Amino acid sequence: MGNNYSHPNERKQKKSCSSNSSRPSSAHQFFINDPSPATGISKMDEDNKYFLPAIREEVDRLQSLHFLLHHIWQSNFSSAMEEKLQRGGAKVLDVGCGPGTWVLEMATNYPLSSFTGIDISATFPIEIKPQNATFIQANIFDGLTYPDSHFDFIYLRHLAVALTDEQWQKTVMIELVRILKPGGMIEIMESDVHWSKEGPILQNFMRIYIEDLGSRGIDLSTVKEIPELLRHNNRLVDFHQDMRQYSIGKWAGRVGELAADNAVQMFRILKCRYAATLRCSNDEYEILLSKLLNEIDEFQPHTNSYRFWATKIIL
Ligand SMILES: C[S@@+](CC[C@H](N)C(=O)[O-])C[C@H]1O[C@@H](n2cnc3c(N)ncnc32)[C@H](O)[C@@H]1O
Repeated sequence: MGNNYSHPNERKQKKSCSSNSSRPSSAHQFFINDPSPATGISKMDEDNKYFLPAIREEVDRLQSLHFLLHHIWQSNFSSAMEEKLQRGGAKVLDVGCGPGTWVLEMATNYPLSSFTGIDISATFPIEIKPQNATFIQANIFDGLTYPDSHFDFIYLRHLAVALTDEQWQKTVMIELVRILKPGGMIEIMESDVHWSKEGPILQNFMRIYIEDLGSRGIDLSTVKEIPELLRHNNRLVDFHQDMRQYSIGKWAGRVGELAADNAVQMFRILKCRYAATLRCSNDEYEILLSKLLNEIDEFQPHTNSYRFWATKIIL
């Protein structure tokens, strides 16, 4: 592994902000989209409008969120795919796979099926992975080069923060359904944007967060419309949804504590931009984050995690 490796996003990040960002923990030897020698920034990174940087702290946060959600749901998916995956030969795609934790677990659990993770940032492992797991660095909006009816199962988790309304329609409802086999299943997992109770500090962070995403054309209220999007797609049938509620904060035990830490960590990762918006120094921002943790314990909120799934029609 090259010791002087750093992610192109990270370099860009460091130029504009003095965060202590560090390279992804699953450091890779190369990127498919090699950065330009002149700028150190690849074409794909220039195009990447995603709001969170691909740095080690975010990789760690996504990994711990995966284990948290796995614990809350006691499973990795809800679609009726168990038998097909066990039998083998099923092709599975995880869209916006992040560090690839879901793909790695699924590939280990179902060794006879094959799993592909796609993400615009290559924070997934390139070499140390099960043989039936593949990762591809690609912008899903550049067109998915798979033929029609290719995958048995397509999975998306927490992509609402990356998709505009138009991208939900074109990329998810048209392109992903196109590459899904008739009889294949698509599953979308999202969480409520707002918690049941939000104190003034959280409300302030949420305002900045929603404005930040809004400035990128992303409207998180679309999460509520996912059931309708799936139900009204004339190539999908047999729609289902399920929900798990969980409490947030130390007051709710270890799971609640991890959930609170995860949310606060996301705001910490955004410090270099959000501290400027809040007109506070990095130190003042850190104090605000610890006050936020205390506030969460005081308000004792809960939130919901959702799974929506449907089957592609067999003509
Ligand atoms: C909130 S993370 C979720 C990651 C993963 N699904 C999980 O649940 O751990 C959203 C992911 O979408 C990826 N992403 C954002 N825009 C993308 C794009 N245009 N093409 C591919 N991936 C994208 C980000 O890099 C990030 O890894």
